[in-house]
Amino acid sequence: MTSAMLTSPAVTVRAPAKVNLELRVGPLRADGFHALATVYQAVSLFDEVTVRASEEWTIAITGTCALGVPADHTNLAVRAAQALAAAHGIDEPVEILIEKDIPVAGGMAGGSSDAAATLVACDWLWGLGSSREELAQIGAELGSDIPFLVHGGTAIGLGRGEVVTPVLTRGTFHWVFAAADVGLSTPAVYAEFDRLTADRDVPEPTASTGLMAALRSGDAHALAGHLGNDLQQAAISLRPELGDLLADGLSYGALGGLVSGSGPTVAFLAADHEGAIDLAVALTASGTVTHAQRATGPVHGASLRGVPRVD
Ligand code: C5P
Repeated sequence: MTSAMLTSPAVTVRAPAKVNLELRVGPLRADGFHALATVYQAVSLFDEVTVRASEEWTIAITGTCALGVPADHTNLAVRAAQALAAAHGIDEPVEILIEKDIPVAGGMAGGSSDAAATLVACDWLWGLGSSREELAQIGAELGSDIPFLVHGGTAIGLGRGEVVTPVLTRGTFHWVFAAADVGLSTPAVYAEFDRLTADRDVPEPTASTGLMAALRSGDAHALAGHLGNDLQQAAISLRPELGDLLADGLSYGALGGLVSGSGPTVAFLAADHEGAIDLAVALTASGTVTHAQRATGPVHGASLRGVPRVD
């Protein structure tokens, strides 16, 4: 390692998880993706991504959810950093460290969020000054959820999910996430959706106006009535126990619940902070789940943590 690298700044970015408040899935497109109309919300479960200059491209994963995450150049975070470098003609490898606390293959876009955070971190490290929109465009080539995780907040996602527009919301919503021990593959869940809908025409997807009104009002009870996920039936078909988990959460006082994205994490909406604590305790004390994590939304997209340090 050169002395310049020893003194190079380490940039740390917080990468939030997401939940899809509504996920409407349309027909399979010619490019292998489905047309979507989805409403994303970034929530306060975070991975942390740290980058610093290095002699070669490397990645290491730590944290409670590190198991099974590829620590090699196939990792979306490395591919995102290399795509940003290529777009700017940069030849400066980085070391990427990811502290992973977002469930893997859980339907919460942890891998996409790490990629979004890596774009923000490398942009700072290389002094590029890109806009969020420019980073989102690079991210869109690598994954449909990445543009949203660059922006964060609450947003509607069209196209295959990558065309994002912010949505007005009021207040804070309180969530409890019940993650499964074993993840579900996103392509497998979409393939199951295709199988379950093979005998009918799938219409072009639209997000509901009722959901937008509930978000504007900040009323969790109203929001609960508009949560919906067209992939839920497919996820339950592959993991029937998710149906029981949803029913249990509602019986323990959740205002609403749905499979998050392609699952298998189940997201429950609580009335308030205390309601979320009660629900998380009930879910774990009853043995329904081993872990129930509370989080609030909306939160910012991938964000720098404080002033980058030199060590
Ligand atoms: O874009 P992303 O990498 O997240 O997509 C992973 C897989 O999920 C795709 O290869 C595709 O099988 C499925 N997918 C889809 N339609 C979307 C988004 C994802 O069919 N809109």
